[in-house]
Amino acid sequence: MAPVAQRPRGTQDILPVDQPYWDAMDHAAQDLAQRFGYLRIETPAFESTELFVRGVGDATDIVTKEMFTFADRGGRALTLRPEGTAPIVRAYFDAGMQLEPQPVRLYYLGPYFRSERPQRGRFHEFHQFGIEALGDGSPLLDVEAIILGWNWFTAVGLGGVSLQLNSIGDEVCRPAYRDLLREHYRPHLSELSVDSRARFERNPLRLFDSKEPQDQALKRAAPRIVDHLCGPCAEAFTTVKESLEAEGVPFSLNPELVRGLDYYTRTVFEYQHVSLGGAQNALGGGGRYDGLADALGYKATPGTGFALGMERTAMLLRETKELAPVTPDVYAVAVDPKDERYVFHLAGTLRERGLRVVVDPSAARLDAKLRKAAKRGARVALLVGPEEREKGEAVVRDMRLKTQVSVAEREVVPTVTQALSAG
Ligand code: HAM
Repeated sequence: MAPVAQRPRGTQDILPVDQPYWDAMDHAAQDLAQRFGYLRIETPAFESTELFVRGVGDATDIVTKEMFTFADRGGRALTLRPEGTAPIVRAYFDAGMQLEPQPVRLYYLGPYFRSERPQRGRFHEFHQFGIEALGDGSPLLDVEAIILGWNWFTAVGLGGVSLQLNSIGDEVCRPAYRDLLREHYRPHLSELSVDSRARFERNPLRLFDSKEPQDQALKRAAPRIVDHLCGPCAEAFTTVKESLEAEGVPFSLNPELVRGLDYYTRTVFEYQHVSLGGAQNALGGGGRYDGLADALGYKATPGTGFALGMERTAMLLRETKELAPVTPDVYAVAVDPKDERYVFHLAGTLRERGLRVVVDPSAARLDAKLRKAAKRGARVALLVGPEEREKGEAVVRDMRLKTQVSVAEREVVPTVTQALSAG
């Protein structure tokens, strides 16, 4: 009979062999976030659909094409969260965090959902490590976020990451720039790709996202927002660039970087990796979003942050680095099924001492069990046969040296501990 169901397309199992990479990513995230004063928050996996329509933007790819939206039995319009920033702004106000000392620094680790066409590094369910700093507009918080993210890639041991930086202005300078951009494109509308013509109408900044060959020449000749920033935006951008230089974080200015979410103002950035091809080359990204709280109906509140893609990072880490799953200290084996309860009891005594002990419950032969112990990478095997049972003893075998001793039950813990600490 065929299995009744298969893993849904676009999802992945994160298997035991993958876990060491995920542990390293989680550990580096928690350690760094705490060192910078960020506290953990987790919001629900689904929210009101309206939160993302208003927050991320109704003309974005995420909202128009990629959301898992559903009506529940009570008729509520809900969406599996495609990103974490809008939910965290909501949670910040829900919990009254705007009344706490500002900025409020938060970090999160969890699953997100987008129904993009699955391909290498692109899934329907994926995980992000993200941070958000809310309630303060200082460009140094953008710098802090960029450095924290940069340090995370170093901490997990991934090389080859590059940082792209841009400023996309704010509601003071962007409207005039948008007009300028439309003026540049207007005489050539008929030459543009269909997607770009739609962008021209709904969200002209996204014209820079076009990968269509026919759009490239016009894109290259287009006016750049960095040349049209208002005074405060230009000043903030200078602070970001100078501080990154002073801190020795290398970056490239990319005037075409506009990001795919509508809430950004001023600083935007992306971490990229050469070996992630084409459109999927972003390992993570973020920026400032000073208009988001207001767009969601809350008091205007500045914010900045990033989200880093964990599947993409894990995929690259696996290609460059070998991390093994945790191995047991002790593999405990009864030669005769009658001795299994005794072995089970000895294993418990060892675990109380903090050791990792695996009990083999199978009816296999001793040599087969010892091969399993070696395969699991155990340093020590604990063996009990009829003779040991009668004498109240156990055999402690050093799997590496292939030596063994018979010891009384009360000597099992010290003998195992000694074998583990040797070499
Ligand atoms: P984003 O650029 O949409 O930003 O996503 C951040 C990262 O999540 C991407 O660079 C990528 O590594 C990963 N990612 C996104 N979609 C997928 C997918 N379908 N499969 C696998 N990985 C994916 C945000 O989400 C913003 N909330 C970031 C932010 C936080 N901005 C300010 N604060």
